[in-house]
Amino acid sequence: MVRSTFLSAFLALSLATFSSAQCGSGTPDATVSGSSGSFTASVAGSQVYSGSDLYSAIQTALDGISSGQRLSILASGSLGTNVISIPSGITFEGCGTIDVQANNGRGNIRSLNTQDVSIPYLTLTGSPYFGMHFYGVSRLSLGEINMALSGGLGIRFERDEAANSEVSMDSINISGAGSHAVETWNIDGLTINSVVARDVGECGLLLQSTTNAQIGTVDGTNVATGTGYATFRMANANGRLSDGSYETNVFVENVVARGGGRGVFCVSESGGVQIGNVDISDTGNNAILIENCYGVEILGGSVDGGGDVRISARDEFANTRDVSISLEVNGANVVERPCGENISWDISGDASLDVC
Ligand SMILES: *[C@@H]1O[C@H](CO)[C@@H](O)[C@H](O)[C@H]1NC(C)=O
Ligand SMILES: *[C@@H]1O[C@H](CO)[C@@H](O)[C@H](O)[C@H]1NC(C)=O
Repeated sequence: MVRSTFLSAFLALSLATFSSAQCGSGTPDATVSGSSGSFTASVAGSQVYSGSDLYSAIQTALDGISSGQRLSILASGSLGTNVISIPSGITFEGCGTIDVQANNGRGNIRSLNTQDVSIPYLTLTGSPYFGMHFYGVSRLSLGEINMALSGGLGIRFERDEAANSEVSMDSINISGAGSHAVETWNIDGLTINSVVARDVGECGLLLQSTTNAQIGTVDGTNVATGTGYATFRMANANGRLSDGSYETNVFVENVVARGGGRGVFCVSESGGVQIGNVDISDTGNNAILIENCYGVEILGGSVDGGGDVRISARDEFANTRDVSISLEVNGANVVERPCGENISWDISGDASLDVC
């Protein structure tokens, strides 16, 4: 496997900063404990809520702490359609399992226009509109996030709101979302260790208008089946720097896709991306599609079966250019149509080649 030593070094360094203290360990400043029908919330050791409503317990505990403090939710239970907004400087961790239901246009767990929010642990079930929702955040840190959903979208950074900077995610594991597992808009400075998506309706990881990103593994099984979405999709000028250039600034170590729709999909004036390795098999749509993108390198890996590996372009944007792909492709076609500009192919395996 060919890989970028720069990327590996960067990830080793940055991932070492993810905290590994256990959920609820030490002395949280506030806790929510109990179980269905009987919850208590405490702040600094004093009870501030006792009753049957998990939402009221969490909100009362959150209202009792301030920036620099931590709330540990030890209980499991249902939030229903309620929305919890996490203020600046708070560490919010869910050690049990919280069930959530859709609140139109909102995330049940959200943080909007904040700094230094940390969510080291969170496990959600249910069918949210967005499980987690963010915009206008800086230095947001997400740790081990698990969602076993029966619909909805996992984690969404909003499009038409304030931009975000310095966002990190350690281990994101999402199944059953009807839409995307993780969808970003407008982040400058994103670090992700891994996104694992299983049985997700649209994308595993969808990056849009996101720059200076360092990503470890994106791993999708049965993601985007029957659609044009992909395990890893870049769209809407992803990777385009503020000066309009596409100097490489999105680094992805590994993309794994099994079945589903597309594997890797770059579209609509995105680029500036280097993918170290791909491991893609039996996708129902293109294994890889690069359409009106600028500055895309795939350093190595394999495609086995499934749809074409293709470079394409639509008329509405400038033609695809500056693409270099080294791959072993077996049981699939490699197609360049229309011809791109400055395209370099290094294909091994039994693939049929229809390139310029
Ligand atoms: C990911 O989620 C699935 C269920 O949704 C669970 O079985 C698995 O243990 C989770 N993986 C991690 C690393 O937490
Ligand atoms: C051609 O594309 C490669 C990336 O594949 C890039 O590094 C190089 O600068 C491009 N050449 C020109 C002349 O733009």
